[in-house]
Order: sequence, then structure tokens, then C-alpha cells
Amino acid sequence: MKKEITFTMIKPFAVERQHVGQIIEAILEHGFRISALKMLKLTKIEAEAFYEIHRGRPFFDDLVQFMSSGPIVAAILEKDNAVEDYRKLIGNTDPSKAESGTIRHMFGSSIQKNAVHGSDSPENAIIESGFFFNQLERF
Ligand code: CMP
Repeated sequence: MKKEITFTMIKPFAVERQHVGQIIEAILEHGFRISALKMLKLTKIEAEAFYEIHRGRPFFDDLVQFMSSGPIVAAILEKDNAVEDYRKLIGNTDPSKAESGTIRHMFGSSIQKNAVHGSDSPENAIIESGFFFNQLERF
């Protein structure tokens, strides 16, 4: 049976702070297989499209500005129960509420600069993975 996938992005602040290696290490240590990986800088239009669901929220413009402010690292992660397990590993959206040992607790500094994004459902994981990776980039 094919394992579930989830999609993650290491956000600009965490990339700038050189936390990519430690975050990837935590992901691998927790049993995820990386089936796609790339570093890129989103345009504002691309960040708006990715976060379209949040359009109209008070934080939308700042979120788009921030997510297009510097390079991000995007990845598809594979594992049984990947979506739920990855959400546990990254912790609460707000790093100050995230449990100790979670990625957001260790590397996040605010709700916006919360180190990583993780898909909230298997359906969105498929949509988000397709947004960043074509078939030739997935292994
Ligand atoms: P992410 O998992 O990438 O999904 C949407 C993002 O919007 C979220 O992480 C946060 O970085 C951001 N976000 C969610 N709620 C707020 C908020 N109340 N204020 C600022 N940013 C938020």
C-alpha cells in the first residue's frame, strides 16, 4: 500500500537563520521519507495563490509579504499517517503554544515566523505537493 504524503515548507526566517539542516534531521529522525525537495523564492503572486484559502484574513497581506521575502525549502514527506504525524512533530501554529521538542517550538519565533508549514489534510497535501512539484521532481 502506498504511504500517505504531506507537504512542508521551511519558511524564509528559518532558512535565513540556517535551520534547514536541523529541521530536515528532525523530519528524518521521525521516520519520514523525503520524496521531493527544492529551495526556491516565491513571488508575491505565487504566495497569494498558495495561501488563497486565507485571503481576506487580517494577516493575509503580511503573510504573503513574508513568504515571498526570501528563499524557502519545499518538500514532500512520505510515511504512514504522514499528515497527522507531521502536525504533531511541528506543533501548534503559535510557537509560544507549541510543545517543547516540536519544530515550531525549537525554531519558530512568532505565528508568522513559525519556521514551517505543514498540510492540514491528506487532500490538501496532494494539492500543495502538486503546486510545487511536477512528476519529474518526485521520487
Ligand atoms: P501555515 O501553517 O503556513 O498556514 C497559514 C499561516 O498563516 C500560518 O502557518 C501562520 O504562519 C499564518 N497565520 C495563521 N494565523 C495567524 C495570525 N493570527 N496572525 C498571523 N499569522 C497567522
